[in-house]
This record gives sequence, structure tokens and C-alpha cells, in this order.
Amino acid sequence: MSVPDLKAGPPRVTPPVNGVGLWRRKSITGLQAEAETDHSLKRALGAVNLTALGIGAIIGTGIFVLTGTVAAQNSGPAVVLSFILAGVASVFAALCYAEFASLVPMAGSAYTYGYATLGEFIAWIIGWDLILEYALGAVTVAIGWSGYVVSFLNGIGIHLPAELTAARGQVVTLADGSHVTAIFNLPAVIIIAIVTTLLVVGIRESANVNNVIVFVKVAVVLLFIALAAKAINPANWHPFIPPNTGVRDQFGWTGVAAGAGVVFFAYIGFDAVSTAAQEAKNPQKDMPVGIIGSLLICTVLYILVSGIATGVMPYTELNVPDPIAVVADRAGLGWVSGLIKLGAIAGLSSVILVMLLGQSRVFWTMSKDGLLPPFVARIHPKFQTPWITSIITGIGVAIFSAILTVREAGSLVSIGTLLAFVIVSVGILVLRMREPNLPRPFKAPIIWFTAPMGALSALYLMVSLPPHTWERLIIWFVLGLFVFFGYSRTHSRLARS
Ligand code: ALA
Repeated sequence: MSVPDLKAGPPRVTPPVNGVGLWRRKSITGLQAEAETDHSLKRALGAVNLTALGIGAIIGTGIFVLTGTVAAQNSGPAVVLSFILAGVASVFAALCYAEFASLVPMAGSAYTYGYATLGEFIAWIIGWDLILEYALGAVTVAIGWSGYVVSFLNGIGIHLPAELTAARGQVVTLADGSHVTAIFNLPAVIIIAIVTTLLVVGIRESANVNNVIVFVKVAVVLLFIALAAKAINPANWHPFIPPNTGVRDQFGWTGVAAGAGVVFFAYIGFDAVSTAAQEAKNPQKDMPVGIIGSLLICTVLYILVSGIATGVMPYTELNVPDPIAVVADRAGLGWVSGLIKLGAIAGLSSVILVMLLGQSRVFWTMSKDGLLPPFVARIHPKFQTPWITSIITGIGVAIFSAILTVREAGSLVSIGTLLAFVIVSVGILVLRMREPNLPRPFKAPIIWFTAPMGALSALYLMVSLPPHTWERLIIWFVLGLFVFFGYSRTHSRLARS
């Protein structure tokens, strides 16, 4: 494999341009040629690695934490239905992602799909938006990881200074009932530093570590399913949908729908597989397998885990930070509870890994397109990874995970991801109309149903998120407009060509 000449900067292939001004687009054939000729990233991943990447990104905080919160506050035992609803919405989007990823196997994922269908300005919006999904996703999960690690270490008698275990300014209650104000979240910073180092060292090394972690976390989830199922008391499933309390979103059908909006977080990550397209050996065939395969496996696991959790314990008792471990305790599986904590810690690390991988690949692609400065696209001569962008992303994510709370970061991640789903679903339809005869290695079935449903279901889930999340999304985009009009618009490779 040839090592790129760093001084030469990004590859020179300039795809033909369609459209004008803010709406100029890259042509699909130009992008395909670019994907074929650009060998700067190492092609080391097969279908199994890609599916494992997907599972690595998907199973995390959502199933290990949110299952309990949503059952206790929104859906009751019908949290299973919330998982099914969010899963169905994700499947529509996954089919659209799979078609795009096999057609345009580029590391930019939704950003590149937007560039090819809806024009440069919308592509920028998606690229900017993906920072919310991937970078802020890594922030959110690193904070969750820190919580699990602190609780695990406390369990074995190791106590970290409380000031260094939570977001700046948060009040932490100690075992003796006294309070301290946190300075910053050290464990979150440490996990980001470890994962960033791994990503700089190599894609194959990162994928191998991910495979081991995914094996551990899936094994832990399967163990929970097999053993805790025996302790189900069907009486706990009645009423399956508890009547609405009179407050919107508290049980009843509105509760099930609101619950779907929250547990959607558990499905985020399957699309991150598409950012590894330029590191896949055979992306046309393996991208759809990785994206759809990982999503389907996780959907089945989620339905079983949430059904068993609410069958073993009354849903009213599930509002705890570690519900799956607590359910294992209640099912009389003392030792499994410890394993579940370890599985969650390992599992959250792989979510961080794939999120950071996705973010650095999106920045790398945007830089090659001239929308970000050229140094972002530098490839390490030995490791063949986009090391500068990986390190910059790691530093930014570490800073925010040191000072934010899960709540502050999490809802923005969901709204950002859903917006990307809407744009990808619209984009795939636009492309089917504009270029119906393009040879497509994978075609999303019944596209006139799948794509609109992908967009509508994502929009529906967006609407169910709280108003302050929308306000922050708008502020984020206003910031993005300054960067776009201040730098990207004039430096765009398409503009200059
Ligand atoms: N789906 C990932 C999780 O639940 C983001 O942690």
C-alpha cells in the first residue's frame, strides 16, 4: 500500500460539478472515481468488522441506562413498544444509508451524500450537524462511562476524589452525606485520551480492539437474556401500557411515543459504519451488510432485554442509573450483576471509539473538499490514519466531556442525528428521481414508502424533543453559518475549480 506524500496535500481528483453557487453538487460518477483512486486510508475492514463496528457504536448508554428511565417515567412495560417504534424509524433510515454507502463509498457519509444530491450548502449543514452526532455523542457516552467506572471502583473499595469525577460545578454527594463541588470529570478525559491514541495508531488495531469489546458486551447481554428470563413474573407486564396520568408523555400512548424519542438514542451509531467506507475492502457489498446487519441484531437484543427487565421487576422500580444490573440482582444473579457493569464499561468504550472514528473521517473529507483547512486532511505516514484530525477531535471532545453533564449533551445528539436521517432520506429520493438509471449495488426496497417514512419518522421524533434542544440546535447552526460564509464558501474545491 503506497504512503501518500504529505506535502502534496489532499488528492487531486476534482469531480465534475453540477449546479451553481451554494447549490453546486459533486457528481456521483466523479465521487465514485474519487473513492476508487484515493488510497490514502488503509482498506482493512470486511463485513464482520463493519457489522462489529455498528454493534460497537449502537449498544451503549441507551440499553444499559435509558431502558429503566423510560419504563419508569414514560412507557411502563410498553418500553418494548417504544424500542420497536424507534427501531422501525431507524430501519427506514438505515436502508437509505445502505443504498448511499454502497453507491458513494466515501468517509464523509451523510455529508458526502448531501454534497452529491442537495448541494454544497446543505452538505455543509449536514457536516456541521454530524459534529453534534459524533463528537457530542462521544462526549455524552464518555460522561456515562465515567459514571459506571466510578460506581464499579467504589464497589471494589477504590474511591477516586469526588471533585474529579463529575462536570465542573456539579455538586457531588459523598458517602457520609457531605457535598463537594466538582472541578472536572477526569475519568471521561482519560477514556477519550486512550481511544484517541488507539485511533491514531491504526484502523486495523482499532477494529481489533472493537471486535473484542463487542464480543464481551454482546456476550453479557445474551447472558442477561438467557438467565434473567427465568425470573420473569408475567404479572409485572400488566397493565402493559399503564394509563396516562393526565400529564402528557407520562404513560398511555403519548408516553410510548415520547419514550420512543428518548430510546432512539440507543440506536444511534449504525450510520457511523458508513464513515468507514474508505477503509472497507469491498464497500459496495459490505456496507449494506454492516449497516443493516448491526441495526437488526441490536433491535432484537433491545426488544428482548427491555421485555425481560420489565418482566422481572415492576417498571416503577426501574428508575435507577444501572437498571440492567439491578434487574440481574433481583433475578438472583448476583455475580452476573458485576459482569453487567463490566460489560457496560467495555461497551461504552467501543461506542466512544466508533463515534470518534466517524467524526475524524467526516472532518477529513470536509477538509479534502476545501470546506475545512487542509492540515485537517493530513494522513500519518506510518499509521495511515488521519492523525491530526483525530487528535484535534480528541482534544475538543475531552474538554467538553470534562465540563458538561449527560443531560446537556444527550438531547442535542439525538436531534442532530435525526436531522441527518431526514436529509439522507430526502437525498436518496432526489437521487432516484434525478438519476434513475445509475447502477446501484444495493437498492432500498419500496423507495417511495421507505424514504418518506424515514424522513417523517425522524421528524416526528425530533418534534417530541424538548424546545430548549431546538433552541440549541438553532444556535449551533447560526455558528456554523459564520464558519461557512467566513471560510468554507470561498475555499471550497468545487468553487475554485
Ligand atoms: N447508541 C449509543 C448508546 O446507546 C449511542 O450509547
